[in-house]
Amino acid sequence: MKSPNPGPETTSRTSAPVTLTADGIVEIHSHEAVREAATDPRTFSSAVSRFLQIPNGLDGQEHAKFRSLIDRYFTPEAMADFEPACRAVATDIARNLPLGVPLKAVEQIGMPFAVAAQSAWLGWPADLAEELVDWVRANQEATRSGELARTAAVAEHFDRIIHSIIEPRRGSDGTADVTDQLIHDDAAGELTDQEIVSILRNWTGGDLASIAQCTGVILHHLARRPEVAERIAQGASDAEVDAILEEFLRIDDPFVSNRRVATADTEIGGCPVAGGQKVILNWADANRDPAVFGDPDAFDPDGNAQDNLVYGIGPHVCPGRPLARLELREVTRAILAVGIPEPARDSEREAAPMGGFRVVPVVLKPRG
Ligand code: HEM
Repeated sequence: MKSPNPGPETTSRTSAPVTLTADGIVEIHSHEAVREAATDPRTFSSAVSRFLQIPNGLDGQEHAKFRSLIDRYFTPEAMADFEPACRAVATDIARNLPLGVPLKAVEQIGMPFAVAAQSAWLGWPADLAEELVDWVRANQEATRSGELARTAAVAEHFDRIIHSIIEPRRGSDGTADVTDQLIHDDAAGELTDQEIVSILRNWTGGDLASIAQCTGVILHHLARRPEVAERIAQGASDAEVDAILEEFLRIDDPFVSNRRVATADTEIGGCPVAGGQKVILNWADANRDPAVFGDPDAFDPDGNAQDNLVYGIGPHVCPGRPLARLELREVTRAILAVGIPEPARDSEREAAPMGGFRVVPVVLKPRG
C-alpha cells in the first residue's frame, strides 16, 4: 500500500545536515548523521543530565545491566499476557466516543487511552486516572512553556504519584502486577528506591505523552487517507497495521529528539564538535530526510520501514516499542470498529520542542 502525499500539510525543515543553535548546541538533522551519532555511544554519550535516568542517561556496562532487566518486561510473552487487557481498555474508550460530532483526538481519545492502558499494564489503580490525565496536560504545557521551574514542579508531582504507588507494595511478594514485579526485581542486584522511581518515570513518561501524541498523529492521517482506514477496518494483519502506523509516525514524528554529549573532539555531518559539547539527535528531521525518503510525505509503509527512526537506533533504541505497537494497534482497531474518522477542520501543529499535533479535530462517521 503506497500512495503520494494527499496535500500540503507538513512543516518545512532545515536542509542542513547539522546546525549550531544560539546556545552552541550541535543539532543533527540528516538521517545519515543521526544514525552515525546514535550508534556511536563512546563518542556521543547519553550522560547528559545531573539527575539519575535509568536507562536513558547511562552508558556502557551500567546501561547494558539495566537494559537486560528492562527488556524482560517487553518480551513477546509479556505483550501476549497484556493484550486482552489492552484490547478491553481500547474497546471501552472507543465505544463511549460520540459519533458524528467533532472530537479532539489527542485530548479526548489519546490522553484517556494512554492513561487507562498504562494503568492496566502497570497495575495502577483506576481512580488515579484523573490525576494522571491532569498531569499529562500540565507536563505538555510545561514543556511548551520552556520554563525550567514549571518542568521541575511537574516532575516532582510525578515522583509523588510514583511514591504513593510503590509504598503499599513494599511488603508484597512481587507477583501482583508489573509494578510489583519491578519493585522486587533483583536481576540487576537489589534496586534502590531512587532506581525504581527512575525506571518507572522513564516508562510512564515514555508511555503517557508519546501514546497520546501518537494517537493524534494516527487519527490525523487516517482521516486524510480513508482507503488506509478501510484497509485496517477490513482486517489487516498485525504486521500490516504496525507498518502503516509507523509510517504515519515517520511522516509526523511526535517524539522529536534526544540529547547526547560529545566525549572527545570529533566531527559529525561535516561539522566539528568539541569534547563536552551538547548534541541533539533530531529524529523527526532524520525521518523526513529527502536523501533517504525522497518526498517525505509520500506514504510507503513497506519501502520506508527499514530506515524509519521513530523508535531510535543503537544501544538506546526504545525498549517500549512492543508495548507502544500493541497499544497503538489496539486503539486504532477499536476506533475503526465504531467509525471512520474524517477531518472536522485543519489540525493544529505543536510548536518546537514538541512534535505532532496540539489539536486534531475529527468526526467519526458511523460504519456501515
Ligand atoms: C509511541 C511511542 C514511543 C516512541 C515514539 C518512543 C521513542 C523512543 C526513542 C526515539 C528512544 C531513543 C532514545 C535515545 O536514543 O536517546 C526511546 C527510548 C526509550 N523509550 Fe521509548 N518511545 C515510545 C514509547 C515508549 C514506551 C511505551 C516505553 C515504556 C513503557 C518507552 C520507554 C523508553 C525507554 C526507557 C527508553 C530509553 C532506552 C535506553 O536508554 O536504553 N518508550 N523511545
